[in-house]
Amino acid sequence: MPLSLVSPNFADLIEPNIEVGKFPDGDAHVRILDLEKYRGQEVTLYHRLYPKQNTSLVVLLLILDTLKEIGAKVSVVIPYLPYARQDKTKLNGEVGSAKVICNLLARAGCQKLYTFDCHFLNSEGDHKFGELNIHNISMAKALAEKAKEFFNEPFEIVVPDVGAEYLVKDMGGKHFNKVRKEYDGNKIGYRDVESLTCDFDIKDKNFLVLDDMISTGSTMITAIQKLKECGAKKVACGTIHGLFLFNCLYKLHKLTDHVFSTDTIPTAQSSVSIKDKLP
Ligand code: R5P
Repeated sequence: MPLSLVSPNFADLIEPNIEVGKFPDGDAHVRILDLEKYRGQEVTLYHRLYPKQNTSLVVLLLILDTLKEIGAKVSVVIPYLPYARQDKTKLNGEVGSAKVICNLLARAGCQKLYTFDCHFLNSEGDHKFGELNIHNISMAKALAEKAKEFFNEPFEIVVPDVGAEYLVKDMGGKHFNKVRKEYDGNKIGYRDVESLTCDFDIKDKNFLVLDDMISTGSTMITAIQKLKECGAKKVACGTIHGLFLFNCLYKLHKLTDHVFSTDTIPTAQSSVSIKDKLP
């Protein structure tokens, strides 16, 4: 049984035993309580990388390298992996950050990463990305189960694009086809949704729209609007990673009462917990 090390940013799920603070200039200060206990041991480290992904990443590298020095064999649980959406490059000279981050973690001593519905992985289970071994866990079924509380009648599940299809394929889910607008040169790394099309019946049906993440909300808002325009009855939306940037929650709540997520990123919308799925 591996020993557990837990960062303060995991305190909502497990009691922390690492202290993280800040020097006056902003440098991170990290202290692993009872460090010698972990010498040569198998360790599972629980650490969130969001929000404050850049600082949290440095903290993680500090912890990993310290554990590597004492010969610990470390697996890391990172519920939401930031930078995962930059798994492909389009612009000349653009950095493929997803692979860079994975390589950094592997080189710092992460022998296996456990994460949830990772953007660039299209199935559950074991994967290798760059130099990093990853175990991907899905929360889609747990979200669909939760949605039964909102609908007192049958509902269908739909994802906004083919990329997210793996989330729902075992549940008979459907997918939209998503087309994004061209880069407008202003929003770095982001393109608004141009259109969503589909080839399934919508009228008079209830729908749960599921996506791996709600970031600016552009995708989810377009999907809900489309369903409503086409005569859907009740619509709910669920996501694994609720970043809920800008005022998208306000916009989503104008379209549906039911906006919910897991606690990979804990927010007021987190009504489904990853706790039982943690290694
Ligand atoms: C895209 O491929 C993802 O699965 C999400 O649909 C997307 O990242 C959501 O972003 P936003 O909320 O900004 O539309």
